[in-house]
Amino acid sequence: MEKVLSARFDIPNSHTLDVYLQHGGYRALQKALTEMTPEQITEEVKKSALRGRGGAGFSTGLKWSFVPKDSPKPIYLVVNADESEPGTFKDRPIMEKDPHALLEGMMIAAYAISSHLAFIYIRGEYWYLKERLEQAIEEARARGYVGKNILGTGFDCDVIVHPGAGAYICGEETALLESLEGKRGYPRIKPPFPALVGLYGCPTVVNNVETIASVPPIIVNGGDWFRRLGTEKSGGTRLFAVSGHVERPGVYERPLGYPLKQLIEDCGGVRGGRKLKAVIPGGTSAPILTAEEAETITLDFEALAAIGSMLGSGGVIVMDETTDIVQATYRSIKFYEHESCGWCVPCREGTNWLVKIFRRLLRGGGTERDIDMLIELSDNMFGRTHCPLGDAAAWAVAPAVKKFRAEFERYVQRRVSVAV
Ligand SMILES: Cc1cc2nc3c(=O)[nH]c(=O)nc-3n(C[C@H](O)[C@H](O)[C@H](O)COP(=O)(O)O)c2cc1C
Repeated sequence: MEKVLSARFDIPNSHTLDVYLQHGGYRALQKALTEMTPEQITEEVKKSALRGRGGAGFSTGLKWSFVPKDSPKPIYLVVNADESEPGTFKDRPIMEKDPHALLEGMMIAAYAISSHLAFIYIRGEYWYLKERLEQAIEEARARGYVGKNILGTGFDCDVIVHPGAGAYICGEETALLESLEGKRGYPRIKPPFPALVGLYGCPTVVNNVETIASVPPIIVNGGDWFRRLGTEKSGGTRLFAVSGHVERPGVYERPLGYPLKQLIEDCGGVRGGRKLKAVIPGGTSAPILTAEEAETITLDFEALAAIGSMLGSGGVIVMDETTDIVQATYRSIKFYEHESCGWCVPCREGTNWLVKIFRRLLRGGGTERDIDMLIELSDNMFGRTHCPLGDAAAWAVAPAVKKFRAEFERYVQRRVSVAV
């Protein structure tokens, strides 16, 4: 199995510049700056079928091409290292074990979009990684890979690491930009999209850590090579963060299009040889899959969209037969209620009502009507909120109720109740 993103993870001191250089580091940057134009880089990335690893899966090359070529204003690159989707922990090993891969990707991306200042917006809980990144930036700056006159080519780009204070909404790209500007992390209305009006009102590309770390191998080996690793429309490999009821949870690199069932087996299978009950394939906001769906689906953007779910952030949450789906879904909705920024009514009120109904059901006081109301409320939130946090909350609930209704009915029939 080809390792692209995790190739250096197990090498001692992989986070240092010397080890990175010994294993092919910064070759891509050299090639990009000396042999390619910014347009050629963007074309290569388009060809690679690299799609955003942060959640929405938008074509990375296409996003870069939206940045105006003749901007009178500065252009910024912002790396989204907020990693706040529950079940998602795959950007962490990149920053911990291979920070130079991120920096190299950032310098290539910055060159492609003509940016001379880049930011890494990192979640506050990753403080130790902020220090690691800053060490890597200093090392790279001292040896001419970051900063002024990079590799003697006349291209300048510096990097600033900015820690957030720990809010899920600050992972949403426009709320992130507000937060980076020193304001409260409320999402902005789109359009305009950040590529035209982003940080400080200037053109800005926001990309996930893993997306950017995928760029150097694309430049070294070519877009076609990367695309062929995955599927026609979902190029490359991905880091899947597998948690829950498997024998060996962790971060696994697999090509896009890989069977989910096989990934679970690679993790040692369902714990204790139990039966699989459900899988959330892309962080808690991705609609839940039944065991039957999970056993046949492949992990790529197209296949999951075709069955009404999504690959999202690559956080695969495995649930065995002992899982109480009502309680598991309640835990997710409590998270969304807590993290709703409160700015728009359907999200603020909707998540709050969903929590209330869940509590009634779980305490044994719910009715059939409550079960229907969970679906109606979610359907009414979906697409009507200011940002996709409301959609995420709705997606965490409605598919779970529809696919596992009998479990909800057990609570209505008062055969079970729990203290919440
Ligand atoms: C509520 C919410 C939270 C998000 N959290 C993250 C996050 O932690 N990390 C991330 O990369 N993208 C997150 N996103 C997606 C970003 O808005 C954006 O699409 C992404 O950073 C773009 O990068 P990509 O194209 O490389 O995926 C979040 C979106 C929403 C709606």
